[in-house]
Amino acid sequence: MCGIVGYIGNQKAAPILLAGLTKLEYRGYDSAGIAVMENGEIKVQKDKGRVSNLYDIKEIDDLKGTIGIAHTRWATHGVPSKVNSHPHMDCKDEFAVVHNGIIENYIELKKELENEGYNFKSETDTEVIPNLINYYYSKDNNNDELRIVRAVKLATERLIGSFAIEVLSKENPDIMVVVRKDSPLVIGKGVKENYIASDIPAILSYTKDFYLLENFEFAMLSRNSIRFFDKDLKEFKKKANTITWNAMDADKNGYDDYMLKEIHEQPTAIRETIGTRVNKGICKFDELGFTKEYLSSLNQIYLIACGTAMHAGLAVKSTIERMSKVHVEVDIASEFRYRDPLVNEKTLCIFITQSGETADTIAALKLCKEKNAKTIAVTNVIGSSITREADFAIYTHAGPEIAVASTKAYTSQITLLVLLSIYFAQVLESVDKNELQQIIKEMLDLPNKVEKILKNTKKLKEIAKMMFKEKDVFYMGRGIDYATAQEASLKLKEISYIHSESYAAGELKHGTIALIEKGVNVIGIITDDNLVKKTVSNIEEIITRGAITTMIINEEIAKTLNTQIFTNVITVPATNQYLSSIVTVVPLQLLAYYIAKEKGLDVDKPRNLAKSVTVE
Ligand code: M6R
Repeated sequence: MCGIVGYIGNQKAAPILLAGLTKLEYRGYDSAGIAVMENGEIKVQKDKGRVSNLYDIKEIDDLKGTIGIAHTRWATHGVPSKVNSHPHMDCKDEFAVVHNGIIENYIELKKELENEGYNFKSETDTEVIPNLINYYYSKDNNNDELRIVRAVKLATERLIGSFAIEVLSKENPDIMVVVRKDSPLVIGKGVKENYIASDIPAILSYTKDFYLLENFEFAMLSRNSIRFFDKDLKEFKKKANTITWNAMDADKNGYDDYMLKEIHEQPTAIRETIGTRVNKGICKFDELGFTKEYLSSLNQIYLIACGTAMHAGLAVKSTIERMSKVHVEVDIASEFRYRDPLVNEKTLCIFITQSGETADTIAALKLCKEKNAKTIAVTNVIGSSITREADFAIYTHAGPEIAVASTKAYTSQITLLVLLSIYFAQVLESVDKNELQQIIKEMLDLPNKVEKILKNTKKLKEIAKMMFKEKDVFYMGRGIDYATAQEASLKLKEISYIHSESYAAGELKHGTIALIEKGVNVIGIITDDNLVKKTVSNIEEIITRGAITTMIINEEIAKTLNTQIFTNVITVPATNQYLSSIVTVVPLQLLAYYIAKEKGLDVDKPRNLAKSVTVE
């Protein structure tokens, strides 16, 4: 879970590398460093702490070299420290490497290299890579232009685990070699210059033309060329992809934080996600080509994901079940992969992941493929690792999500999955056409409803001021509102560090109500006409016990209730029940955001977290 950047061209490399690292900090931010080729020497500067610290290092400012690699780290092996920061050099100072991933067999490799006379400075797994490259390079007597690529190939063949690496070589000062396996890496093509990064937004301001490397493909970059080699080092041509995102999408665009910007981008993200799929009132997923026969043969649909993406699964479980008439199970990827799940060719497995890089989700997908299930990846990132593994990839169109706390990806995932479930119903002819048309009509109006919520933040800011010193906050709801409560609770804890739990309102009496006493903050959600009375009765029970209640209620239901009994009421526009999570989560995302801001916290980079969890 780290970020890597590379530059080879005619401009000073250091500022480009630092700018790229700043955009990748969401992937890890406990240490950072760069290596620049200058006058035939590899100059390394690195330290513990955030990328911003590197801007203050005078030696970096002085670097004039036009080729370099850089890294921002989220520690896996070895504490965050200067010596453990990347780039790492081999012990003979010939090769510099930055690495994103984990080398599982580094201890054995280290011992082997030590027996060959190599020595190590850091506690990292990465340091074996430049030393292995040195080893194979020194054993190669053929001093042709591909000697460095051969050494990288032989070294990486020895690695068990995941990696995206960039290599600088002192003897080859005008080239850079990169390779990946199970960790992301993109190459941006410029004019007389080329760029590398863990993801597209990091270098989007320089180019829109990108190459996506597959596992064990090698690229040798110079200023004017990018040569590709397969796992046997057979050279081949690759086609560049042109990206339609613009650089503004990956910038803060006037907002204080990425999270706030991304919350405000939700109407656009939802609109674009719908736009790609709805045509004349029909949901189109032509690439899936599912037949009535296939969908009716299914015994089970799994929705598998982690964190917020898993909560999106919870929010659509009943919708997919209702539309497809197939039992739907939502599973946490890290649990699913180790419990020998009942999956076979009659199971459809849908993997939800914003980044497309989450290690547990990808591992769960591989398991389902081994068991002959059909697999669909629902992701936001074109060309991400999961899209290469799944039978089908379908995309949310949320644009780059940079803040660690996921917001617009969640609402876009629900949007896309509700559309997918309508597609299932169309194929199966399992739901009345008029009802489907009505849901689609409601969906088309969702962006306006979310916009309306985003304009009404005064009350939320006041509640945040009252709540930010709390130690515990509880969320509750029934049905889809319970799914939203789980997501809202995660949002609060991850960015404000306030302890929070979510409960199915009906569960209160089975234990949780013991936690309720005078002054405890409870946030309740009510959007389901059929469950209003039940939930209100649960809320009354906690009001009796002294709880402070903040209610998120849809406007229509609010009209039917005596809302005076609640401490605070936030109303949201009513929508179809299947879509209600999208409108209720938005004020709760904002509430978590304002609470974290009141506490003076860095909302975009909460402690101990990284955006993409590419390790188990
Ligand atoms: O990239 P993914 O959607 O696979 O990420 C899954 C989770 O790591 C992610 O949703 C995480 O829970 C967020 N920090 C929540 O805001």
